[in-house]
Formats: sequence, C-alpha cells, structure tokens
Amino acid sequence: MDFENIVIEKDNGLAKVVINRPKKLNALNKATISELHTAFKELNADAEVQVILLTGSGEKAFVAGADISEFAHFSEEEGATLARKGQEILFNFIENLNTPVIALINGFALGGGLELAMACHFRIAAANAKMGLPEVSLGVIPGYGGTQRLSQLIGKGKAMELIMTASMIDAQEAKEYKLVNYVTSSEELHSTAEKLASKIMKNSPVAIGAAISAVNANFKEGVNGYDTEITEFGNCFGTKDFKEGTTAFLEKRKPNFPGA
Ligand code: COA
Repeated sequence: MDFENIVIEKDNGLAKVVINRPKKLNALNKATISELHTAFKELNADAEVQVILLTGSGEKAFVAGADISEFAHFSEEEGATLARKGQEILFNFIENLNTPVIALINGFALGGGLELAMACHFRIAAANAKMGLPEVSLGVIPGYGGTQRLSQLIGKGKAMELIMTASMIDAQEAKEYKLVNYVTSSEELHSTAEKLASKIMKNSPVAIGAAISAVNANFKEGVNGYDTEITEFGNCFGTKDFKEGTTAFLEKRKPNFPGA
C-alpha cells in the first residue's frame, strides 16, 4: 500500500494507521479520506490483522476537522454529496468493519476528527486531547455522522449543548461523558492501546466481528438488534473458531483461533 497522506505500520496482528498531514493538523481532505477508505478496506481483508489503531501524526492533533479550504465554496448540492460520500466510504465504513478499530486521540479531535474517532469502535485519549464539534461556528453542522454518534455516546442533552456551543472539552471531561474509555499520558497512549489490543487478539476474530455487527444493530433504523444477535450467535456455531474455543476449554488449554 502506497499512500501520500497516511502511514501504515503492521506488527504482529496489529495495524497502525497514522494520518500524516501534521502541518494541517491532519485535516481530512478528499485525498486523505479516499486513502483511508482503501487502507481500511485492505486491512480488514488481511487475515493477519486483528486490531487496527487509528491516530494522527505529530503531538498536536488527531484530526482538526474536515479540510475547510476544500469545501468553503461548495453549493448546497456539493455539501450534501460531501457528507453522503464521506459517511459511506469512511465513517459508516469503519463502524461496520469486522476488525476492531480503536481511535488514539493524541491532541485536537474537532469536527470531522471527532466524527472519525466516534466512528471507531472505541476511543482512548491522551491527557492533552481536546474534542468538540465546532461546525456551527462555521455556519454548518456536523456532516459525517456527528449529530447521531455524539448523541448515542454521550446522550442527547449534552450532545445538543456541545454542538450548539461549539465548545471543546478536555480528555478528562470526555471520559466523564463516556466519549472515551481511557485517558493516558501522551507517552503511554500507544502502550495502553497495545495492551488492550493484545487482550482482544486472544479472542476469536470471527466472534468479535459478529459482536460488532450485533452491537451496531441497536443503532440501525428498522433493524432489530435482538434478531441480529440471534442470527450472529447461530452463525458462530458453524465456525472453526467456535470448535477451537470450546474444544480448548474442554481440554483445559489456551485456544489457537484460526479466524475462520
Ligand atoms: N481545515 C483546514 N486546515 C486546517 C484545519 C481544518 N479543519 N485545522 C487546522 N488547519 C490548518 C490551519 O489553517 C493552519 O494552516 P497554515 O499553517 O497553512 O495556516 C495549520 O493547520 C495549523 O493550524 P493553526 O490554526 O495555525 O493552529 P492553532 O494551534 O493556532 O489552532 C485549532 C489549532 C485546531 C484550534 C485551529 O486550527 C482550528 O480551529 N481549526 C479548525 C477546527 C474546526 O473548525 N474544525 C471543524 C471543521 S468542519
């Protein structure tokens, strides 16, 4: 994979995707969104990759938002297309991957940056992180799923307040609101994520993918999450991972999941 705006590192089942436009605080331009789509698609299809970590390069920002310079002159139609396409190829795409994606928020996660972190399966923040959806200060609203996912994660009232005031919250506040699961020092951000990833990697990749699908079903219009859970639960019984997991338990040994 050859990219201009992102860097991928792979090691022992773990893939790190680093958004690499530090001079623009890793703002999401069209090219970066497209590269991220390709990278996530390929990493999700790579059987050796069990967990994906997503972060921003430099010490200042995860992602400071969608690239304002690219859409400042858009028409209504172009604006709607920008949001629709972005949601489809990146934000909803990540949320629905069967490989777990953890956001490592290492500084500003604003607008599209916070929306990107919220599309990941969960989030860890460095103590210097600052998060917010400041779009109304630009005369626009969040367009990459932010109005929906912020309400899902922190509740409607607080989401309304943060969006209306365009304010930034710090990492500790974000943890209190359950927007992030952990706050660490900047130095420990990666090692904390790696420890969590190694716990995840001990488990069945197929079952984890099924669990992601079942949890996500709760938030999908017209989908009954309990029904999805029943289907995914049943599907597990046909997998090699299930055979290995149950056999290993009965044989009192650690499982070695084939991921199939
Ligand atoms: N889109 C495009 N460029 C951006 C950007 C964005 N969302 N966020 C930052 N940048 C660029 C700046 O224009 C600047 O570029 P330049 O050096 O060519 O002028 C560079 O990144 C550094 O940003 P700067 O504003 O100088 O850093 P700062 O430390 O003074 O402020 C922020 C940091 C995050 C508070 C500020 O950059 C900001 O408010 N960014 C926009 C946040 C936003 O509204 N996001 C939602 C977009 S929908």
